[in-house]
Amino acid sequence: MENKKVLVTGGAGFIGGNFVQYMVDKYPNYDIYNLDLLTYAGDLTKHCSIEKKENYHFIKADIADRKVIMELFEKEKFEFVVHFAAESHVDRSITNPEVFVVTNVLGTQVLLDAAKEHKITKFVHVSTDEVYGELDFDRETFFTEETPLQPNSPYSASKASSDMLVRAYYETYKLPINITRCSNNYGPYHFPEKLIPLTISRVVNNQKVPVYGDGKNIRDWLHVIDHCAAIDLVLHKGEIGEVYNVGGHNEQTNLEVVKTIINTLGKSEDLIEFVEDRLGHDKRYAIDPTKLEQLGWKPTYNFETGISHTIRWYLDNKEWLEQVISGKYQTYFAKQYKIL
Ligand code: NAD
Ligand code: DAU
Repeated sequence: MENKKVLVTGGAGFIGGNFVQYMVDKYPNYDIYNLDLLTYAGDLTKHCSIEKKENYHFIKADIADRKVIMELFEKEKFEFVVHFAAESHVDRSITNPEVFVVTNVLGTQVLLDAAKEHKITKFVHVSTDEVYGELDFDRETFFTEETPLQPNSPYSASKASSDMLVRAYYETYKLPINITRCSNNYGPYHFPEKLIPLTISRVVNNQKVPVYGDGKNIRDWLHVIDHCAAIDLVLHKGEIGEVYNVGGHNEQTNLEVVKTIINTLGKSEDLIEFVEDRLGHDKRYAIDPTKLEQLGWKPTYNFETGISHTIRWYLDNKEWLEQVISGKYQTYFAKQYKIL
């Protein structure tokens, strides 16, 4: 029997990259097609352990390129699509929103059209808890799947728009979809523009760590492997048309996260530098994952074990880190954090 073909978009990025490795190893009877444009956030060196495997394939392409995407679907007849590809960094969306609309909204719509035309079995759209907006600091409220969408940044507005399109293709054309909305991920291959890898990469080099505002904003951290397992479950068992929130109740203030990393690395908290706050900075995110738990998902990492594994991983993979923070990253960093 022929292998089932799974298209994973954005599989050269952080979460998509971990997911591609997870799927290639777990499902030798699936052919995994990693489609990625290789923007600043994508790199293929992370796939050196799987690139020679017969069930791994790479395609360099832009999800917003309708002609290329339509031809690809015509040729490969995918069974499943798992859609990660996106512009993903909130700060970049504040300085340059346009590409977020093109990739996240238009790119998603092109994929939906291709999936509809070729009658795929399941389209999983990987979204974010940020589409719900922000919560108060009280720690008593959580995002459920029923929470109204109220995105605050250009990034989250573009993701919410793509969610609405995915929902509309289900309602209008009965395209078999699921939407997942996950909290903040961390783990191996996280690009060092985001808080945790940025802090690790700065602290190991005894450089200042920029903390926005007073550092009291709260995020709900989930290890990337737990996210991958959640998507695998939704792909195979998720009820068509449903949304599933993903999160493991690991709420931390940004200051707590930064201090944990500094202390684990045995460095001084004097490295913390409070800098101007992010515009429209969401106060708190926190997920109620009950619906996904009822489907059979349970996270395997708590924040303590997850963060110590992650720090260890960065120490053991300095070459990867050095490679991704060279070149254009330096220009980005200097512009974003003027004084550091
Ligand atoms: P990332 O920025 O690390 O990776 C994005 C990948 O998409 C990169 O490999 C990039 O090259 C690729 N890409 C960008 N534009 C493309 C285009 N036009 N065509 C094809 N490929 C393109 O992102 P991530 O953190 O891995 O996030 C993946 C997905 O998960 C995103 O949709 C994001 O919204 C969502 N998400 C992320 C988090 C998180 O904490 N990082 C949490 C919840 C949801
Ligand atoms: O909640 C899910 C979202 O998590 C995903 O949809 C996004 O793709 C992902 O980037 C992430 O968004 P955040 O904005 O929460 O992540 P970031 O790592 O950029 O920031 C985490 C917190 O740390 C946030 O409150 C801002 C703060 N921060 C961030 C950076 C980069 C700082 O204090 N200093 C920094 O230099």
